Amino acid sequence: MTRTRLAMVLCLALGVCLPAFARAQDKDPAQTVISVCTRCHTPARICKNLGVKDQDAWDATVSHMIRNGAKLDAADKPGLVSWLASRKPGDKPVCN
Ligand code: HEC
Repeated sequence: MTRTRLAMVLCLALGVCLPAFARAQDKDPAQTVISVCTRCHTPARICKNLGVKDQDAWDATVSHMIRNGAKLDAADKPGLVSWLASRKPGDKPVCN
């Protein structure tokens, strides 16, 4: 493979990979929790429940928060719920 072709392949690979990575970063559940879930109360309320609520309990809580007025995209909910359910008590950035 020539240098130019190699560069082209790398460029294509990066062109495909970088935006995908950037999108994944945008939807980082940790950031979503901090930006969406701390509008009305401190993260302490969420922290207390890490390792306590399971997947179903978090699903119910997040639905309840959406009814309370939380601005969460429906598409982001499953990821957020799994993330919350897989945290351990005291995990950052929810707990400090
Ligand atoms: C629009 C305001 C608002 C937003 C945004 C919000 N909450 Fe709440 N949250 C409340 C209120 C009010 C309460 C206490 C009364 C109640 O339970 O409805 C509460 C209570 C809680 C509780 C303790 C009660 C329980 O059911 O365990 C948890 C945990 C919680 N919120 C998590 C979250 C999470 C996670 C998010 C982000 C998805 C979030 N909240 C976003 C208003 C909000």
